[in-house]
Formats: sequence, C-alpha cells, structure tokens
Amino acid sequence: MPVSVLMPWLDIDLPDGMHAHLYDGDGPPPEHLEEIEFYVMPYDRGPNPARLLDRMSRLKVVQSLSAGVESLLPWLPPGVRLANGRGLHDLSVAEHSLALIHASQRDLPRWFAQQATGSWARAHTRSLADSRVLLIGYGAIGKAIERQLVAAEALVTRVARTARPAEDVHGIAELPALLPQADIVVLIVPDTASTRGLLGAAQLAALPDGALVVNVGRGRAIDTSALLAETRAGRLRAALDVVDPEPLPADHPLWRVPGVIITPHIAGGSASFHPRARRLVAEQLRRFAAGEPLLNVVV
Ligand SMILES: NC(=O)c1ccc[n+]([C@@H]2O[C@H](COP(=O)([O-])OP(=O)(O)OC[C@H]3O[C@@H](n4cnc5c(N)ncnc54)[C@H](OP(=O)(O)O)[C@@H]3O)[C@@H](O)[C@H]2O)c1
Repeated sequence: MPVSVLMPWLDIDLPDGMHAHLYDGDGPPPEHLEEIEFYVMPYDRGPNPARLLDRMSRLKVVQSLSAGVESLLPWLPPGVRLANGRGLHDLSVAEHSLALIHASQRDLPRWFAQQATGSWARAHTRSLADSRVLLIGYGAIGKAIERQLVAAEALVTRVARTARPAEDVHGIAELPALLPQADIVVLIVPDTASTRGLLGAAQLAALPDGALVVNVGRGRAIDTSALLAETRAGRLRAALDVVDPEPLPADHPLWRVPGVIITPHIAGGSASFHPRARRLVAEQLRRFAAGEPLLNVVV
C-alpha cells in the first residue's frame, strides 16, 4: 500500500511508493484523512491545519513549515514526530528586519507622509552604518540577520541563551551590562518560558535615549505596556513585526505612537520561502522513504 502524504502543493517529485493528496489550508480537506502518514502542514493558515491532526489515525510525521512550533505542540498526537521549518525563513526574516531597521533609521514614514502632500522639506537622519546593534538570538535567523547587518557596516554584539566565548557570543545573563551600549536591539528568539518578558520595563529603561527596539521573533518577548510607555514618552523607538497580542486590536494605542513601525507578522512570508520549503519537503520525503533520520526534528 502506498504511503499517503498530505501537502500544500503537488509539484514535487515523490519517492516511489508515495502518493500525495492536496490540502492548502484554505478549502475543505480531502477525504480519507485516516490514511495519511506524512502531513506537510500549509504555512501561515491559522489553526485549521492543526485541527485535522486528530483525524489522522496512521500519522507518523508532521512537517511544519514554521520555525516556531510552540502553538502546534498541544495538537500533536502522542507518538507522532514533528519537524519544523528551521532555515526556510532565514533570509526572508533577515531582509524584513533590515527593512524595518532602515525604515526607522532613515525616517521613511516621515518621507512617505511628505510625499503624500508633495512636500520637499529636507533633513539628515540616523543611519545603520556604525550603529551598535545588540542581536538577541543567535540561531539560524539571527545569523542571517547578522550577515546583512555586517554588510551594512553596523557593529554587532551577539547574545544567546548561554555564552559561547569561542564564537564571541554573550550569554543572556550579561544583558544588563550590554543594554546601555546598544543603539539598536534586535530580538529574534523563540516564544518560551525563558523569553517571555525578556525586555520588560527595567531592561527597556536601561537602553540609551533614542534607541530602536526591533522584534521579529515572538511578541511576548517584550512587555507591550512598558514599550508603549517608553515610546509614547518619545524616549525609545520601535520597529515590530511581532507584537503581544496578535493581531494587535485596531484601537490599540501602539499603532499610533510616533516613532513606532508595525508590520503584521509577515517577516517570514516572502517569495524566497517557497523554493526553500519545496526543497526541504522533497528531502524529508526522500529520507522518510529511505528510512533515514529526518532533518529539523523537534519531537
Ligand atoms: N516574524 C516572523 O515571521 C518569524 C518567522 C520565522 C521565525 N520567527 C521566530 O524566530 C524564532 C527564532 O528562529 P530561529 O530559526 O533563529 O531559531 P533557532 O535557530 O532555534 O535560534 C534561537 C536562538 O534564540 C536563542 N534563545 C533562546 N532562548 C533564549 C533566551 N532565553 N535568551 C537569549 N537567547 C535565547 C537561542 O540561544 P542558543 O543559541 O544559546 O540556543 C538561539 O540563539 C522562531 O522560534 C520564531 O518564533 C519569526
């Protein structure tokens, strides 16, 4: 009997003995979900793809296309392996992080507002070059962000959970000493018990006046009320792809604070994701068919 795979595209060469069914997360799922052994979950389609899991009685593997899979864990049936999309979004999130930083440093919202009224009022701005950037999170995406920061001639300080002196990575315990030296802080950490509230009122207060807080990881790493207070006072600026809560309610005051740029958690979703996702899935299916260890296994 062929191995049944459920996935969001059918334009992948399958190993012999596999049969694919299409589910892109939007329309109704196919029948006979009980036959599915390998489920490639559609990316960025809300909770519906996870709701199918308890109907797949033969399921062996869930391949998520997200790097952060914390919201999926409660849905995972016992004994089913979960692999994440680590690496698929690195360039996309890095590009967007740099876009947010450049937009903030070079005052793009101000120039866009002037464009809307045909105004030609000139002024000098901050820059990214020579800025001291504290990069909190030095995993796959953090490293991709760093490559682009270095190309922009920013001065990067790396921070991860534990210090790795050989790699010049500081441990998170050193944060109090590092924050006062940062012109820009970039957060790219997962949502875990240890990252929730990582930047609270005390940590934000330790940043120099005018510093830019960038979050492209998960919203709960920053205390939103504390950030709102600091940005409303005009002491800090922020560029956020992720916020707490998400979606940010339309009447939330953070939307309208001068010096705050917000995008709706879209850093990972760009054209560069699709070819990388297909390559990962093709490799995972090959490994599954050959009985080899899968990549990116989380559980
Ligand atoms: N905005 C978006 O659209 C988007 C897209 C994709 C991913 N993301 C988010 O980005 C996160 C990171 O992805 P990744 O692929 O880079 O993950 P990763 O390779 O697992 O790296 C995570 C990094 O965070 C560090 N870290 C974890 N807990 C920490 C703590 N308490 N204090 C300081 N550093 C801590 C880790 O430190 P160690 O190196 O010491 O382990 C590691 O350097 C994902 O989990 C996801 O939530 C967002």
